[in-house]
Amino acid sequence: MATSFIYGARSGGQMPEALVRFITEEQLKGSGVSANLIVQSEIDARLRSSYTKEIFQAKPEQTEVLPTFGLFEVPYIVFVGYKAGSGLDGLRRAAAAAAKALKSIRVKGAEVLLQSTVIGQDITDKGADAVAQALTEGFLLALHDRKPLKKEMAERFLLEAVTFKPEEGFEEKHGDKLVWEQGIVRGQIIADGVGYARDLTNLPGNDLTPERLAFHAEELANTHDLEIEVIDEWTATEQGMGGLLAVGQGSINPPRMIVIHYKGAPESSETWGLIGKGITFDTGGISLKKAPGMEEMISDMGGAAAVLGAVKAIAELKAQVNLIAVIPTAENMPSDRAYKPGDVIRTMSGYTVEVVNTDAEGRIVLADGLTTAIRRGATKLVDVATLTGAVMITLGYEATGAVTNNDQLMSEVIQASEKSGEQVWPLPTYPAFKKALKSDAADLKNAGSSYGGASIGGLFIGHFAEDLPWVHLDIGGTAWIESSRGWEPKGATGVMVRTLVELTRNAN
Ligand code: BES
Ligand code: ZN
Ligand code: ZN
Repeated sequence: MATSFIYGARSGGQMPEALVRFITEEQLKGSGVSANLIVQSEIDARLRSSYTKEIFQAKPEQTEVLPTFGLFEVPYIVFVGYKAGSGLDGLRRAAAAAAKALKSIRVKGAEVLLQSTVIGQDITDKGADAVAQALTEGFLLALHDRKPLKKEMAERFLLEAVTFKPEEGFEEKHGDKLVWEQGIVRGQIIADGVGYARDLTNLPGNDLTPERLAFHAEELANTHDLEIEVIDEWTATEQGMGGLLAVGQGSINPPRMIVIHYKGAPESSETWGLIGKGITFDTGGISLKKAPGMEEMISDMGGAAAVLGAVKAIAELKAQVNLIAVIPTAENMPSDRAYKPGDVIRTMSGYTVEVVNTDAEGRIVLADGLTTAIRRGATKLVDVATLTGAVMITLGYEATGAVTNNDQLMSEVIQASEKSGEQVWPLPTYPAFKKALKSDAADLKNAGSSYGGASIGGLFIGHFAEDLPWVHLDIGGTAWIESSRGWEPKGATGVMVRTLVELTRNAN
């Protein structure tokens, strides 16, 4: 079941269990007899006492849940701190805070009061549809966390109904119902895409092998009537995908190259190639990883999940663009038949690679992923990958690192990320970083020995872009987080789904 979102005044029906009210510090500060009523005099007094005691100061994302004990028409009021003019991300965060507060009191039906004084500025700046989308996304994203696989399976907390209720006078200024409804639907579709990506990423490695990932992709393609190719190890051999095959050869679970075609703009000559790293589990291979934290490497297909989540949303939005989604997927295992340091492999592009570290496997499968996208007609490329631990050293869990060969495409990606609230930060591409990949044994080696690993890893992939505009997004620090924040739960975040959708949905 899904949350239903409605815009408009309540028309009879069931009374919500809670009223959500975004409140600014200025509104809360007003005191004395002349103060405007916020809700009702006793409730206002309680709220202001929280303010003077510095318990609730209406700071962004701060919440205060007050039971109304019959003093007001609904049993609870959830106040959410908001700074007017905070933009889409501020709204998304406020909605996420509200959703978490509602969950804490197990309230499943809520009404959100829309006030011109609080969100009017944002509507003027960004448009009512974008505001509706951001609020919807915030409610949905905050609650979509990992569902543990237990003997007794518990259902994830579901917010059943959210009504956006315009205050008097709001509709005339900011409230075209159709525009709000459009934004709500878009927010639901996009949040669904993120939820899909999170669920896939949270699947354990024993459930999600490359073949199983291909099965999920087939299901997705069939549901949306999209053309899909699942290339098995035999066809991959015929097509010369030596990179994918080398990384996958150590595992009993064979690799796959998944290609999904979405043609929403048949007249356009442009086709986005979206390539997602799909390592279903990364042990490091013969260059074995250390044990602590290795379980997190179930998320090494977070790039693949982001691409699939974006394809799902783009298909549901019926966006007028062309996409080729490519997912090279393999399990990186050590074994007697695994690839090993010193091996020289021939990628699909013809370029050879000296393997110096089998743990730098993502870039090798992505090399064949880029070539696959190009051979099938992609004209610009974006790859998404949990590529390096180094990006985490640079940007922490805060931002996705980006590497490019094309400043124009990079600025489009950054703009999209500013809209989505998923932070992206460009990394430098100094000539010395390219040099670090020089090999005596092959065209290039798969890892440099020096620092600057996130840039170097990105540049390796760029070698296979054949001069097409290309951006690489390293989600090594953002695909999986240790504790929840804002609209992101603990575990898989589904990061980059929204940025990819924002980037591609209007652009040809
Ligand atoms: N999947 C890892 C990168 C990673 C590590 C992402 C931790 C998120 C959290 C990748 O395949 C890897 O192991 N990269 C190596 C590259 C190195 C050997 C050049 C790394 O970053 O250590
Ligand atoms: Zn690795
Ligand atoms: Zn990896």
